[in-house]
Amino acid sequence: HRKESDDPGNDDLVTISSLPKERGYLTDYFYQFQGFWYDQHFLRGAIWAQAHFKAQPTDIVLATYPKTGLTWLKALAFATMNRARLENCPLLTKNPHDCVPYIEFQAYEKDPISALESLPQPRLLSTHIPYNSLPGSVLASNCKIVCITRDPKDMFVSMLSFLSKINVGNKEPISKDEAFGLFCNGVSLVGPLWDHVLGYWRASKESPERVLFLKYEDLKKGTLGNVEKLAEFLGCPFSSREKENGVMEEIVRFCSIDSLKKLEVNKRGFYHMGQESGVTVETGAFFRKGEVGDSKNHLSEEMVRRIDQITKDKFEPYGLKY
Ligand code: A3P
Repeated sequence: HRKESDDPGNDDLVTISSLPKERGYLTDYFYQFQGFWYDQHFLRGAIWAQAHFKAQPTDIVLATYPKTGLTWLKALAFATMNRARLENCPLLTKNPHDCVPYIEFQAYEKDPISALESLPQPRLLSTHIPYNSLPGSVLASNCKIVCITRDPKDMFVSMLSFLSKINVGNKEPISKDEAFGLFCNGVSLVGPLWDHVLGYWRASKESPERVLFLKYEDLKKGTLGNVEKLAEFLGCPFSSREKENGVMEEIVRFCSIDSLKKLEVNKRGFYHMGQESGVTVETGAFFRKGEVGDSKNHLSEEMVRRIDQITKDKFEPYGLKY
């Protein structure tokens, strides 16, 4: 039973403590909720979102497993939708995660409902919540969803690096070997990773007009073509005049990792995972190498083989190639 209030409150903690748990990577525990593993921070956010978030049919939700390139996707989608005034774009002074808020972290805002209602229309939002656990109104509203995924090996390596930069009270992050074992067994933030990805992949196959599914590697190889596809999906296609004037190229340059990394806000800023949550990360942590295949520099051959095998076994039956 939950209190009907915007505050995640103690009632959630009672519910959370009764869930199956496993060793967390950074926090003490991951809790299993609706088939996926969450730390307490995300779980309280997801429970809040399920109870309180009201999607609108015009919303656009960027939904991903962590470390798949969401920061880049946020920048590209935001810049595309606000391209009329790129020279004054809020991305110049705000981190992409402050331009495109997470639904679940609204649980930690003072007045989340008003904050969400005051966002410019159409609202551009994001989430790490798995497809089957999305707030009911997201599916009922028929709003658009964009998902990006990435080679699971690169996600794992990117995640470990990111965790070492999050401040949750001076706790030492887990060792690579221990995290690897848990990860392969499906225990990671909103893992199993493979089930998370498949939820959105299957939805995109069933309803391609509602769910766009992108791959980080494709975006790296053909950024322009994918930005064009993204704009069409978002309902704001580039006109022939914009194409001739190089607007797409400008957006791609503007959102490149090198450009974003150089901005003061992304060099020295902090991102709060909910203003009242006390969980913060240096904005620079969102921009590391941004390369395809960096995992080969960090994982043994045996580790590579093991993740590749799981990926093949899980994805192939659904026609998802990696
Ligand atoms: P690496 O750690 O492999 O460098 P997310 O945004 O989902 O947290 O994913 C983070 C990954 O995306 C990191 O990968 C990061 O460097 C990369 N990234 C961030 N901004 C990017 C950009 N503009 N272009 C390409 N990759 C980017």
